Amino acid sequence: MKKMIGKLMAVTLVVAMMCGLVACGGNEDAKKEEKKAEKIVLGTSADYPPFEFIVLDENKKQQYAGIDISLAKQIAEDMDAELEISNMNFDSLIAALQKGEVDMVISGVEKDGKREKVVDFSEAYYTDLPPMILIKADKKDTYTSAKSLEGKTIAAQSGTTKADIVNEEFKKSKLLALTSVTDIVNNLAYDKCDAVILDGAVAQQYAQENEDMVIADIALGEEAPYYVAVQKGDPKGILEDINKTIQNAKEKKLVDQWIDEADAKADEAVE
Ligand code: ARG
Repeated sequence: MKKMIGKLMAVTLVVAMMCGLVACGGNEDAKKEEKKAEKIVLGTSADYPPFEFIVLDENKKQQYAGIDISLAKQIAEDMDAELEISNMNFDSLIAALQKGEVDMVISGVEKDGKREKVVDFSEAYYTDLPPMILIKADKKDTYTSAKSLEGKTIAAQSGTTKADIVNEEFKKSKLLALTSVTDIVNNLAYDKCDAVILDGAVAQQYAQENEDMVIADIALGEEAPYYVAVQKGDPKGILEDINKTIQNAKEKKLVDQWIDEADAKADEAVE
């Protein structure tokens, strides 16, 4: 009889424990229901170290890294949403945003009149160095002024403000507009173009990685702030949250931390 009571108690205990577990599970479900946006889709062009690029992790799996990716992750985390990254050519980003295929674009994007007509911008989260011209090291003494590049081919990424600079300020040079910065830098490596115009920090990054490339001593334009772009009119109501994250990241010096992390990884960029 004693044994029976013992068994009964044990069963009761197990049942009680199971009930406890079930109750716990119920709480978890309730928590999930409180979450607001489930997922936020980032549009970016991951060919732009140190802002967005691809590295291989220890399992040789491709991972996105860079200052803009860190910002996107922080925005998603603050919104308690999952981040999905959609990598595409830079010149497809604004259209993808307009169509609602992505929720936000973070890709070293500057403001310009054309873009302001079709999308809305956050506050600036970073201010880059002025644009720079990347050339072959052995041409350092040849290309010393805009004039010295007359008749030469200058490459820039399609749909960027850098392609606009070639069109507007280097009227006597030829523009080679390509969709991928990786291809552009390869074109310079194989002398398919004479110079490349890039945002300052990006030009420096490629010069650092490629021994035979340097920054030309030609001053260009002004430093350019970067912004997060969202759909015109912010139909998804995410701009306020994005601005809050940006303000907080600036105050807490998170941006500086992201820059250091990106600099440490950018040399390993596979794209
Ligand atoms: N800052 C330039 C622009 O706004 C170029 C940005 C290119 N970004 C990139 N991820 N490839 O047009």
